[in-house]
Amino acid sequence: MKVLVTGGLGFIGSHTVCELIESGYDVVIADNLYNSKIDVLDRIEKITGVRPHFYNINVQDKEALDKLFAKEEPEGIIHFAAYKAVGESVYKPLEYYENNFDTTFALLWMMRKYPKCKNFVFSSSATIYGVPDHVPLKETDPRKDATSPYGETKVVIERILEDIAKVNKEYNIAILRYFNPIGAHKSGLLGEDPNGIPNNLLPYINKVATGVLPCVNVFGDDYPTPDGTGVRDYIHVLDLARGHVLALKKLETNPGLVTYNLGTGKGTSVLEIIKDYEKATGIKINYVIKPRRAGDVAENYADCSKAKNELGFTCKYNVFDACLDGYNFQKKENQNK
Ligand code: UD1
Repeated sequence: MKVLVTGGLGFIGSHTVCELIESGYDVVIADNLYNSKIDVLDRIEKITGVRPHFYNINVQDKEALDKLFAKEEPEGIIHFAAYKAVGESVYKPLEYYENNFDTTFALLWMMRKYPKCKNFVFSSSATIYGVPDHVPLKETDPRKDATSPYGETKVVIERILEDIAKVNKEYNIAILRYFNPIGAHKSGLLGEDPNGIPNNLLPYINKVATGVLPCVNVFGDDYPTPDGTGVRDYIHVLDLARGHVLALKKLETNPGLVTYNLGTGKGTSVLEIIKDYEKATGIKINYVIKPRRAGDVAENYADCSKAKNELGFTCKYNVFDACLDGYNFQKKENQNK
């Protein structure tokens, strides 16, 4: 099957592209390099021996997308291309709503125009569960009011896809709710290296471990969790990438719309992951306790039994693997700068 991967040079996108190629899929990438670098394409080629067709286009651009569809005739889409910084979205709601909605709409219009393309995988997030009433979270738990415009785009797009699936019975749509993707490719060639000060915990720890930043700010130690710090479900990006291949295989059985949590099912606190990182890498991570970060929830982890039962999804890697792989990637990246 030929698959269009939007945002295919980004963190999760690039790992998924490699998994797809290694599973025999033909991959086309659309990415406007907003939050990615062109040399990721070389790295994908280095890892897989295949250089996917690449289109440097904004997925909002229907004309450019139309040309791509006419030429490539993809049968499936994995839609990663989106703005994803929670804090930034609060200050730039218009940009977030426009970009995340319009890219999705443009792709759905292409599916209308090119009926050969019936399969759509959407990158959603655990953020749609808002402040959870309980953990672990199941797919049947309610979507809550989002705490940011970024989260709102995920909530609303999920609803839009559900409405579209109701009237387009020939479509197969997978909504994948990611928990906290971390780690990097085993080769050290792909990973997450945000510009400036990272917002997310693991990229921040990577910068502390490699001497770029002095210490980790732990946002709150007074949550109702065993050690008082926030608990999350950290999933290795390689496991997450494999989840996309399994979801695509599921879509090939014509299930209509399906929704899956992709996590590990295990919660890890901020202090625990700092300790795990130290054990995995042998490097001391200094930290200071700071006040809670606005919008953070105490605890958030997945019940992954649906993905396990229906997709055969289980995680191969643990938090230690992810810490070590993330560290190795960051060390290599710093040397290249
Ligand atoms: C956020 C988003 C999620 C998105 C994910 C990855 C929300 C509520 N969360 O998850 O949708 O998929 O990023 O982009 O929309 N922490 C620190 N110090 C730091 C950074 C974080 O202590 O410097 C703590 C946080 O308080 C939290 C945990 O580490 O308890 C994880 O934070 P982070 O990596 O930012 O991810 P989330 O906020 O869970």
